[in-house]
Amino acid sequence: MAENLWRHTVNQLDPYISGQAAKDAEKQAALKEVSRLATNENPLGPSPKAVAAMQQAVLDSHFYPDLTSLELRKKLGGLHGIDPENYVTGNGADNIITLVIASFVNPGDEVVYCTPTFSEYHKNTLLVGGTPVEIQTTRDHKFDLEAILEAINDKTKLVIICNPNNPTGTIVADYELRAFFSRLPKHVVAVLDEAYGEFISIPNYSTGVEFMKEGLPVITIRTFSKSYGLAGMRVGYAFAKDEFIRPLQAVREPFACNRVAEAGAIAALDDEEHKQNVLRSNKKEMEKLIKEFRSLGYSVEETHTNFLFIDMKQDTNKLAGELFSQGFIIRPCAVWGFPTFARISIGTSEQNDRLIQALKEIRSGAASQV
Ligand SMILES: Cc1ncc(COP(=O)(O)O)c(C=O)c1O
Repeated sequence: MAENLWRHTVNQLDPYISGQAAKDAEKQAALKEVSRLATNENPLGPSPKAVAAMQQAVLDSHFYPDLTSLELRKKLGGLHGIDPENYVTGNGADNIITLVIASFVNPGDEVVYCTPTFSEYHKNTLLVGGTPVEIQTTRDHKFDLEAILEAINDKTKLVIICNPNNPTGTIVADYELRAFFSRLPKHVVAVLDEAYGEFISIPNYSTGVEFMKEGLPVITIRTFSKSYGLAGMRVGYAFAKDEFIRPLQAVREPFACNRVAEAGAIAALDDEEHKQNVLRSNKKEMEKLIKEFRSLGYSVEETHTNFLFIDMKQDTNKLAGELFSQGFIIRPCAVWGFPTFARISIGTSEQNDRLIQALKEIRSGAASQV
């Protein structure tokens, strides 16, 4: 069997299945219009300034990009008040998660986080021969920081906190995070995945930037895929104090962030107006969807992201199929052990209105069949 040739840990892994499974691609082609509400993309798209910068950068595609994305690191450093030397960039936050785990986890080391959460922590831990230790989120679907602390032992190397969490959209209070980080034993490093961090609207909420400045043992991961609308470009980054960023710089593949992507990311950081439009629209549409979903009898709480985690009180695998034939891709949550829940990205106003209409029609169709 060819599998015998594979690295042993690879046998435990499955390919990543996104909200838009390959088998659906053909069927999608037959649909007039598809609303992609399963992958938490930005429905308003990238900043026009980023588009212009990327178009310009394409002309220099025959040159390698800047080896370590110095211009982008300088720009981020200026915004956050952090030394550019304390950043590492990569091909999306996915690539950074791989990098962090490959840089810190030895075979047999444990990586602790809550579930449900982003699948890549599990996969990358297995790949390097580590052991994922998964703890159920609290009843209100939040990361259970006390339970994570209790699970730490001599083998623990990393604890990963997805904040806000995907797929639940919840966050933990910043003062609880701060206390948690300061209670970690010296042999444990915290990873704070803030892929959705820009969507947090709580005033004066501390993020990885503040924790880093306070000297806490945290590696923060961010991305340009969500609020900046550059998912197709693949730009992610991490920042941390010297002793944690150095191994990442050593392991990082050269030129991990391509020339066009870096130009887009730099220009996106300059377009505050576009970012504020994105955040305003997301909040407004979230409030509208929550109201409509509740009136349909679903349970849904406010989110700190660009998606909602909804108990739709029905088999969401089946519902996703019905919605798909009407041109909507949503993410059923049975894979996370929540068969009546779906994760639905917040779309444009028009997409959201059509989605609500489709849900009402499906419901009245089901009622008329009884
Ligand atoms: C929590 C979380 N972390 C990381 C990522 C990866 O983001 P990127 O597109 O930058 O690879 C995602 C993508 O959905 C995510 O939800």
